[in-house]
Amino acid sequence: METVRLSQRGAVAIATIDNPPVNALSAALRAALVETVQAIAADPKVEALVIAAAGRAFIAGADISEFGKPPVEPLLPEVLNLIEACPKPVVAAIQGVALGGGLEVALACHARLAAPAAKLGLPEIKLGIIPGAGGTQRLPRLIGAAKAFPMMLTGEPISAEKGAALGLVELVSGDLIEAAVAKAQELAAQGVPARTSEWTDKLTDADREAFEALAKDATAKSGDMPNAMALIEAVRGAFTLPFPEGLAAERALFVRLLADERSKALRYAFFAEREATHVPGIDAGVKPRPLAQAAVIGAGTMGGGIAMCFANAGIPVTLIETTQELIDKGHARVRDTYGFSVKRGSMSEAARDERMALITPAVGLAAAGNADIVVEAAFEEMGVKRQIFGELDKVMKPGAILATNTSYLDVATIAAATARPQDVVGLHFFSPANVMKLLEIVRPTGTAGDVVATALALGRKLGKVPVVVGNCFGFVGNRMLAQRTRAAERLLIAGALPHEVDAAVTGFGFKMGPFAMSDLAGGDIGWRTRKSLGTKAAVADALCEAGRFGQKTGKGYYLYPEGARTGQRDPEVEALIERISAEKGVTRRSFTSDEIVARLMDPMVNEGAGILEEGIAARPGDIDTVWLNGYNWPAWRGGPMHWADTVGLDVIVKRLEAQAAESGDATLQPAPLLRRLAAEGKGFADLKARAA
Ligand code: 3HC
Repeated sequence: METVRLSQRGAVAIATIDNPPVNALSAALRAALVETVQAIAADPKVEALVIAAAGRAFIAGADISEFGKPPVEPLLPEVLNLIEACPKPVVAAIQGVALGGGLEVALACHARLAAPAAKLGLPEIKLGIIPGAGGTQRLPRLIGAAKAFPMMLTGEPISAEKGAALGLVELVSGDLIEAAVAKAQELAAQGVPARTSEWTDKLTDADREAFEALAKDATAKSGDMPNAMALIEAVRGAFTLPFPEGLAAERALFVRLLADERSKALRYAFFAEREATHVPGIDAGVKPRPLAQAAVIGAGTMGGGIAMCFANAGIPVTLIETTQELIDKGHARVRDTYGFSVKRGSMSEAARDERMALITPAVGLAAAGNADIVVEAAFEEMGVKRQIFGELDKVMKPGAILATNTSYLDVATIAAATARPQDVVGLHFFSPANVMKLLEIVRPTGTAGDVVATALALGRKLGKVPVVVGNCFGFVGNRMLAQRTRAAERLLIAGALPHEVDAAVTGFGFKMGPFAMSDLAGGDIGWRTRKSLGTKAAVADALCEAGRFGQKTGKGYYLYPEGARTGQRDPEVEALIERISAEKGVTRRSFTSDEIVARLMDPMVNEGAGILEEGIAARPGDIDTVWLNGYNWPAWRGGPMHWADTVGLDVIVKRLEAQAAESGDATLQPAPLLRRLAAEGKGFADLKARAA
């Protein structure tokens, strides 16, 4: 397939990049660009070149799937040097996203025009690397390092309008190609094109000073991320090194970072997240059902957050409660939550009013009748859910999707309360629903394929990361979390203290340890679940029996005097834990952070293996996507299954066997799949191809 199509308008050639789905700079495209530029340079009938693109992206950057493989010539920096050195003007016509290497292509051109919908960014930092084709050298030369550095440090794309304000692009509201051709003619008439690499007027002393201040701040905040440090070094090179040396230094840092395990994990996560949207058994051609109107049952924190998700995506939603008092309260809470964003400056008052106008408060389930999708977020109790679904079955129009936001319960049993189980699906949002990215789509065997496809499309429309999972207690995320919770309790009894466990977990990269988390969420939630299941957890139960539910009661695993948000160690709790150990005849011992991490994470990995074996998750990457987006698993560790592969499954098997023997808990015995892979010297990654 031709990745570049050439056409001509007078003396201006137009090279249209067409490399679906997102015009990534594959080896074939790089070669085609070289061929194009060389041909244009040599063609006496052509005075200038416009680089344009077909599809939704201008260029999404380097082809990430080529990373980690032997490099194929021509390399991107060479291609861009060739574009920049072209004796005839080259103009970039940016109609969609220009990201990473895509923006670097534009930076090497002699002028950049962008349509209003274009987005411009250097997101390499999110993949654990830095721009590697001149971005750190050309962008500071073009707009100054003090403005360029934050773009590269956050990796967040900017709008074309912002890009124009920064002097990065010229904004075109009319026909982009016409404007680019006119620009190319204008430059051709002027003679030798201006080359970004030769610009130095933006690299002033004041700019350097401002950049160094930002770099100092970034060092303090992200001192342990190797790519943030490398980025600072590379950008500094724009001031201290001649362009070719700055470019070479950038490339050396880029290549070193590519080989770092942390970048590998981030790249793995990028593809895992996208692969999760291709669901085995659901053909890409299945048409989602139209969703013009939504309803949410329950205006508590969760229901209100879900309603906000719909409103944020521009979908009108009816928020329903059982009484006027409850709906007034829930509706006011939503307004307050938007109000915080307005106060913080992240939302305008007009935007808040627009979104509030999309949320209609109502009393009684009948108000859901006109909705194409209803999401139930009522009390987590099977009887309550079944009653609601029975009622919904009567009021919802035919073909409407009936979704439950249950986080544990059997979705098939809920679906059986209706005469249309094929239209019932689980949509498990995570709290706070308007913030957290993950959406577990729970699919009992009876759910229709187009309902799953609709849920996936909805997830993406709401800006979520959707993952389709099977129907079992706790689904993927909470089922694995339960193993970590049990392991944390075991560690307390064996000799660790809450602050030691939490410190090991934050040291691993989580924002919070399990006990600080439990205190934040409220220990009573788990207590209620244990009671309903008839299970016990000696320490956790004892704390709850003493009314220690966590932050909301001022004490839990830690003390929170006068509403403090960070807990303090409590000698009373530590004495209680030691007493329980003694009662159980356990001689307490100390644990290193590594031991704590292994004892917490290995049982989760084991549960993950069971989940794969049962087909609850289609691929290890789906499990990792759940943990990365719903449970704040540190992104640069790639998720529990990826982490297990980096540790070695044979190591995990041995550690689990030792834990099972020590605790006498047979559920800690390695799952058959884990044993098999370890025995074959394989990792979970080897399963990918089989499941895909
Ligand atoms: N390389 C290879 N494949 C890519 C890709 C890339 N840079 N960007 C996207 N894709 C693939 C995805 O894997 C997906 O494949 P699939 O259909 O098989 O699942 C397909 O393109 C579509 O991607 P999305 O589902 O993400 O499509 P969206 O429309 O939602 O988003 C996007 C498009 C905004 C371009 C988004 O894909 C994205 O952010 N891509 C990555 C951009 C990026 O990080 N670029 C920098 C790369 S590193 C670099 O350029 C180094 C340089 O400095 C040398």
